[in-house]
Amino acid sequence: MSPLRLGLFASHDGSNLQAIVDSCANGTLDATVTVVIGNNSCARALERARVAGLKTVHLSSKTHPQPGALDQEILSVLVGSGVELVALAGYNKKLGPETVSYFRDRILNIHPAPLPRFGGEGLYGRRVHEAVLASGVKESAATVHLVDELYDHGATVAEQKVPVLVDDTPETLAERVKRAEHALYAATLQRIATGEIDLSSAG
Ligand code: GRF
Repeated sequence: MSPLRLGLFASHDGSNLQAIVDSCANGTLDATVTVVIGNNSCARALERARVAGLKTVHLSSKTHPQPGALDQEILSVLVGSGVELVALAGYNKKLGPETVSYFRDRILNIHPAPLPRFGGEGLYGRRVHEAVLASGVKESAATVHLVDELYDHGATVAEQKVPVLVDDTPETLAERVKRAEHALYAATLQRIATGEIDLSSAG
């Protein structure tokens, strides 16, 4: 079986992107990253991708001021790169309707808390962990889910529970969840690559 062809999206640090790239390189993930798309040309994520020798493309409202044109260009780059599965790895923009529709059930995101309770518009970054701590729950989670037209709305594909400790701050919790994300994302992609997870029946 040929390696699963991945298209990655990232906006910031790219530690999840790095974990996926490293897993491809060390053979624990039978996949190849054919393109990395970023909306922030200065993002460390794009630098990490370049260091790994990957094709990177900067596409944003700066390169394409009209949302429809941006959506079409993103779709065209993904299709032109032979992408089979899209993985959002800290991408802080919504994909356009044409891209979401073309890749229906083939776009994943990773979220740093359980869904749907701690997701939705405005719940990102530090705010997610603040909401988890304010709720008093004893467990958070790293969550891999399908992407549809709404924020953090698609079906959960895999979840790794993470304990919340009594003296946690948003930062300490974020760090613990991030470590779980790195392991979970690559492992979930591998389960998809092997056919153990069938995304068409996950939604
Ligand atoms: C992660 O916490 C992920 O859950 C969220 O964005 C963050 C990205 O972190 N969607 P990094 O850029 O991969 O380090």
